Amino acid sequence: MSLLIRNGRVVTADQDMKVDVYAEQSTITRLEAGIDTQSLPPDTKIIDAKDMLVFPGFIDPHVHIHLPFMGTNAIDDHASATQAALVGGTTSIIEMICPGPEDEPEVAFKEWKSLAEDASRGSCCDYGFHLSVVRFDDLARKQVQDLVAKEGVRSFKIFLAYKGALDISDENLFALLEMARDLNVVVTAHCENAEAIDAMQQQLINSGKTGPQWHEPSRPRSVEASGVNHLCTFAELTGAPIYIVHTSCHAALQEALKARDRGVNVSVESVAPHLILDKSFTERNGFEGAKYVMSPPLRDAEEHASLWAALEARDIATIGTDHAPFNFAGQKEMGRDAFTAIPNGIPSVQERVDLIHTYGVCKGQIDLKTMVDSCSTQAAKIFGMYPRKGDIAIGSDADLVVYDPDFKGTFTVADGLSKVDYCGFEGMERCGRAEVVTLRGQVVAKRGKYVGEAAIGQYIDRAFIGH
Ligand code: URP
Ligand code: ZN
Ligand code: ZN
Repeated sequence: MSLLIRNGRVVTADQDMKVDVYAEQSTITRLEAGIDTQSLPPDTKIIDAKDMLVFPGFIDPHVHIHLPFMGTNAIDDHASATQAALVGGTTSIIEMICPGPEDEPEVAFKEWKSLAEDASRGSCCDYGFHLSVVRFDDLARKQVQDLVAKEGVRSFKIFLAYKGALDISDENLFALLEMARDLNVVVTAHCENAEAIDAMQQQLINSGKTGPQWHEPSRPRSVEASGVNHLCTFAELTGAPIYIVHTSCHAALQEALKARDRGVNVSVESVAPHLILDKSFTERNGFEGAKYVMSPPLRDAEEHASLWAALEARDIATIGTDHAPFNFAGQKEMGRDAFTAIPNGIPSVQERVDLIHTYGVCKGQIDLKTMVDSCSTQAAKIFGMYPRKGDIAIGSDADLVVYDPDFKGTFTVADGLSKVDYCGFEGMERCGRAEVVTLRGQVVAKRGKYVGEAAIGQYIDRAFIGH
């Protein structure tokens, strides 16, 4: 089966061109203006992209689906989260494998992979994994090395937060970074100072400051900047490549950029909620603020400008979501008596691309090429998927998004394919929509509806790092 997308404006991270895109089977084979349809096989699927943009399939490098966390489990399964991703234009995700401190990495890898491969509720988009390293004794070290060698795991995840649950000691941090350097694996990291947060949380709760609005003061910008500085120092000493996830503020970003100037191989991620929402959302009445509790927390709106500017300057490489879907009813509500018990996360795997188009491109903060670079190409390059993913080029997978930049609407939970019971962007203006999304040459989504088959996503065996 062949696919032709004609008459569109094709935008990649570095090109903006009027060409038709032709794919045979799953791969792009021709990029030419005015491809003659008479010369194509009769069963070619032809999509007219007049007045549309054509993007490479977007990649979300920071997604949680199966997530046992803070005494509960995230609400999506692989089918719901990845169908949501696909209708929003995201054709590949990297999910965090998040085992607990007692769990063996090999068992965790099998658990996450078997859920993603499930014949009915498995992943519908292509996927890879960042392997969280929480346990790091001799057995775990050996298993982690084996997973890199045999399973195509090319990135680790560590937490310098969530004291006593997921955080890693400095001794293990140093040893893990040395291992990552030797294996040429990128270490992605949640950077906050776990000890400071723990002390601040206790003080606030003890003084009766228990509502969601106290989440941000319990982990201020300095705590995040200190975490980034700490990781960068260790990376400088060991020479490991690092990637700072969900950077929320100027102070943390500056620590990463200073380290880069010293020669540290550091990439920076921001996530949609930090670019668009702010901490006033956590002050909403009726415990509504709990919907907006994530870590690092939403900051003052004044932070947005420096994040957007850093994206446009390509100092921030990627935009992910940190999709971590916990229902308001029964899950976020677990923290009614203490914000420290609110499961952290603001889901947006479906909304990310439209959010960045609306609040980034349409508001003049970034251009279209930067949007493609940060929402697709850089993730592919950093995490060893390029040029198969993240570009429209001959030989790349035919993961394509035909995008209507003039669509107008609002974000609402009613349109969501995720199972989560709220939308953090409810009622906010939306400009743009994926009209058609293809995954390896097959149409899988049309105007907000998933039209593909069950569990068609493939595991992306990442053979090399394009860092
Ligand atoms: O608030 C967040 N970020 N929730 C998910 C877990 C994590 O820290 O990535
Ligand atoms: Zn995190
Ligand atoms: Zn996360």
